[in-house]
Amino acid sequence: MKTLLVILLLINVSQHASAVELYEGDSFILPCQFDTSRLFDPTVVWSRSDLSPPTVHQRQLQGDELKDQNQRYSGRTSMKTDALETGDLSLNLTNLQLSDSATYTCSIRDFGDELSRSDVQLQVKERFPSWARALLVLLVLLVVSGGLLFYFRHYFMSGECLLLHYP
Ligand SMILES: *[C@@H]1O[C@H](CO)[C@@H](O)[C@H](O)[C@H]1NC(C)=O
Repeated sequence: MKTLLVILLLINVSQHASAVELYEGDSFILPCQFDTSRLFDPTVVWSRSDLSPPTVHQRQLQGDELKDQNQRYSGRTSMKTDALETGDLSLNLTNLQLSDSATYTCSIRDFGDELSRSDVQLQVKERFPSWARALLVLLVLLVVSGGLLFYFRHYFMSGECLLLHYP
């Protein structure tokens, strides 16, 4: 019975270790690979279908094409400069927000025809969950009020002490 419990615990621990934990403010590389070296007019589009406009980042032979980029990703995305030569089309997303949690699509087009499409899931967590913040506020209040009580204890107890000493 005990052994079983230990094994179950170990399984639980290893499952937790394998999951990628991302928090607000972190950066993350969204992976995408495709051999674009033989394409004539390649375009790589990272997008989120739940947003309008959906474009997160766009790369063409001339370079980044960000005029259709969704405002909330402004200045937070980058791809390697030689991405279209090496086929490493991964997107570096910085300063993660809770609202970045979504499914991202990496789409490769040539002359407008879609050649490939792959999805990456991203889950961003709060660095300090609200219950932890509430607990911290409560602790500070407790310490402060305790300190005040201790500091002004003479005011609260003086009457009582007089009574005790001079009955
Ligand atoms: C992602 O971009 C940020 C900001 O430009 C940079 O500091 C960071 O090193 C990049 N990450 C990787 C793995 O290239």
